[in-house]
Amino acid sequence: DTTGIPHRPGRLPVIGDLIGANPRTPLQDTLRVGRRVGPIFTRKIFGFEIVFAGGVDVVTQLNDETKFGKHVGLGIENLRALAGDGLFTAHTGEPNWRLAHDILQPAFSAEAMRRYHPMMLEVAHELTAAWDRATGPVDVAADMTRLTLETIGLAGFGYRFGSFERTEPHPFVTAMIRALRFAQLQNVKLPFARRAFAGTPAQNKADIATMTNLVDEVIETRRREGGESRDLLGMMLSEGHPDTGERLDPVNIRNQAITFVVAGHETTSGALSFALYYLTRNPDTLAKARAEVDAVWGDRDPSFADVAKLRYVRRVLDESMRLWPTAPGYSREAREDVLLGGKYPMQKGDWVIVPLPLVHRDPAVWGPDPEKFDPDRFEPAAVKKRPAQAYKPFGTGERACIGRQFALHEAVLALGMVLQRYDFTADPAYELKIAESLTLKPSGFTVRPRVRNRAR
Ligand code: HEM
Repeated sequence: DTTGIPHRPGRLPVIGDLIGANPRTPLQDTLRVGRRVGPIFTRKIFGFEIVFAGGVDVVTQLNDETKFGKHVGLGIENLRALAGDGLFTAHTGEPNWRLAHDILQPAFSAEAMRRYHPMMLEVAHELTAAWDRATGPVDVAADMTRLTLETIGLAGFGYRFGSFERTEPHPFVTAMIRALRFAQLQNVKLPFARRAFAGTPAQNKADIATMTNLVDEVIETRRREGGESRDLLGMMLSEGHPDTGERLDPVNIRNQAITFVVAGHETTSGALSFALYYLTRNPDTLAKARAEVDAVWGDRDPSFADVAKLRYVRRVLDESMRLWPTAPGYSREAREDVLLGGKYPMQKGDWVIVPLPLVHRDPAVWGPDPEKFDPDRFEPAAVKKRPAQAYKPFGTGERACIGRQFALHEAVLALGMVLQRYDFTADPAYELKIAESLTLKPSGFTVRPRVRNRAR
């Protein structure tokens, strides 16, 4: 029951809040409404109404795992056509969620990161080799996507997509981007608009087949030829549950493989791209970050332990993910009847969406200028003063991101390496434009990398 929950002024009969809603920018449309009427509000298009909650107080309530859990709905439900009961799209009650979560947890331990480090370093060198060769501006989001796709491919599956040798994205990526858009736009209620933006079901079927065929091939090759037993794929093929010994079935392994390739690269790529954007816009921050890299790493390639020593670079990433959390939200479902924000009745099973950029800019917590980029917000003393639920770029509770350490190690490593090696000039006229798919990326943002020290 959404009675009494605020919404955009000027809601119309039948079409609701349709006017001004752009199927390509649902998140940014939501932020606009939230800024105006938030922290709890609804958007309604035809008969379809969604409740959003973006204040730190109400999100603290929603993140209470005893009262709420992850809701698999809307865009995520639509993704089940692609990723089935893979970790991200599974319902928490599905037995395969717990099974896969417990089997895969060790693949994300500190010890596992130590094993992935040399591969992450190798891929970061592919990026710097490409930037060394560049004669003009490089598209940051495109190259960061190359980096993160190669990293999850190599560290997770021993597979090389060859992204840096290609001028066009790998066919898997092209298919993935279309399939994600198709899934997201199934929520658009006007059939002609949906067809115009989302593509056809036949195309979607072909895209899913492209992705499935590739992962089947990679899995088949590993089964036939053996190889690394302790990367993601190795663990899925050879490990059983730590308590029961139960194994993942082949269909679930395929679902997990697709899940990890998709979840494991889009978000990290966006986070790196926003970080570089903010660095080029904030010369003092850039100088400070670079000074840290020079002091801690010097001219050397970083060892595993060197990565976590870049405390300031990490804060740059944290602050970039505050302003633009690249997985921009999650859904929470009530486990029992409750009052949302102490005011609006929710019945068991009702759900709301948490648009993270609103939480991450709540002035009650982040101060009078929450739009300002300032990595010092992540100094330990400042973090300690804030409520724990004010910053959630990796989600919350037992369904939070399993790949957090992987993403952070990879991103700090790559950002450190490009700061170590290049000076950047960015087009001063560029205005941040955000492309939305399942995740966020700065669109059309380029830099000119110039090698700082040719001796290296
Ligand atoms: C879940 C964010 C990187 C794998 C999530 C969720 C968020 C998130 C917000 C929770 C979604 C929900 O509640 O519906 C991010 C961000 C990343 C990142 C911002 C990078 C900056 C990665 C990487 C991997 C990964 C590198 C894998 C190598 C997953 C998986 C889940 C997940 C499998 C589902 C976990 C479960 O429900 O058990 N991520 N992620 N993510 N992420 Fe990440």
